[in-house]
Amino acid sequence: MPELSRVVVLSPDDFLAWWSKSWEVGQHVAIMGMNGSGKTTLEHFLLLPRKYILALDAKGYDSSLSAYGWPRTDKWPLPHSMRQAVKDGDPLRVIIGNPARSEKQWASNNVLMRRVLKDVFLQGRWTVLVDEGIIIAHRKFVDAGDTLDRLFITARDRGVSLVYGVQRPSIGRTSPAGLSAFSQSTWVAVSRTRDERVHDRVAEICGRPKAEMRGLIAALPKYCWAILGLDPHEPIRLVTPPKLKVVPKSNATHQSRLSALVWGGAA
Ligand SMILES: Nc1ncnc2c1ncn2[C@@H]1O[C@H](COP(=O)(O)OP(=O)(O)OP(=O)(O)O)[C@@H](O)[C@H]1O
Ligand SMILES: [Mg+2]
Repeated sequence: MPELSRVVVLSPDDFLAWWSKSWEVGQHVAIMGMNGSGKTTLEHFLLLPRKYILALDAKGYDSSLSAYGWPRTDKWPLPHSMRQAVKDGDPLRVIIGNPARSEKQWASNNVLMRRVLKDVFLQGRWTVLVDEGIIIAHRKFVDAGDTLDRLFITARDRGVSLVYGVQRPSIGRTSPAGLSAFSQSTWVAVSRTRDERVHDRVAEICGRPKAEMRGLIAALPKYCWAILGLDPHEPIRLVTPPKLKVVPKSNATHQSRLSALVWGGAA
């Protein structure tokens, strides 16, 4: 008879107290959640203990990512003031990428993502949020799957931690990075789904019984996340992160000229 997992429900504060001492530098976090399940919101919460964060906005403007309230830049290497802040030991949490309002900007955003990931490999020490793993890794989009793969595998010694969000683990079929993301992650976060491939993949990665994962993951409440480590004797922790403050939609920041032409300037 396999031993049943212990499941504990934690308040955001209690979770953070445990998480900030458990998440070590160089450990990756894989996040699996369907469209709109709250991945970007959870990522903000999980990143709270870290001081040096690059959040890649590969979507060419993500409103939940913008709600983080962090400065944005499309400059790489980072602007002088930001590099100085790092040298002075001040925290730096920054969103990389500007709104893509045209095909040309979309293409240059993709180039920017690739450059940043290549340099992170050399610079070390950053915590990197890859919010939309599929866009970064997929050959049709940013096509940085190989660089990501290399980062996943070599990061521990370089002090780089990747926080990697995807909708399904089947990403591995179209890009190599999907596979190493899950095999190289020390932590896995998963939200409610009835997709048994997700249940089974989590069970395989974390060494838990498949039947148990099927029951647990399918029954999670909305916006509640199960956080699992690789030690099957550790409890599974459940937490619902705080909702991000809604930022008023400002079309000026991300509306394309074509969109304004069709729909007018106002939302
Ligand atoms: N813990 C939460 N409590 C309340 N609302 C939440 C919570 N998490 C997410 N939401 C709400 O759900 C919506 C989607 O959240 P979020 O953008 O984080 O999801 P996502 O999985 O990243 O979505 P996408 O697949 O579009 O990237 C937002 O309106 C957000 O405010
Ligand atoms: Mg998101």
